[in-house]
Amino acid sequence: MIGRLNHIAIAVPDLAAAAALYRDTLGAKVSAPDDLPDHGVTTVFVELENSKIELLHPLGDNSTIARYLARNPEGGMHHICFEVADIIAARDQLRSEGARVLGDGEPRIGAHGKRVLFLHPKDFCGTLIEIEET
Ligand code: CO
Repeated sequence: MIGRLNHIAIAVPDLAAAAALYRDTLGAKVSAPDDLPDHGVTTVFVELENSKIELLHPLGDNSTIARYLARNPEGGMHHICFEVADIIAARDQLRSEGARVLGDGEPRIGAHGKRVLFLHPKDFCGTLIEIEET
């Protein structure tokens, strides 16, 4: 069902410092920050040859990233994102296998303007999974 690894997301307490780390120390191509108020995050994307890193910083008062950083003050891996061809078919198949889809189960528009859903980390080896429709 899952296709390519689309990105790995890392929550960071200082977005400018994290972007500089990837750009200057690691020599990667780094995007400008992008505010996503619906998701409570500001993102910076690091472009790699075979995938992307999504740097996540809290935006607004009720951000899940703020809660994550309260538990992990230095930041850390937040989720990984796999591509799927048909997000509704993927959701229904995952549910039939017993996996829990977060929220109301309806896809939302994610950071790339594509439909996304999140899957419960307790059902996936302790890792929050995002699926994105290609
Ligand atoms: Co993501």
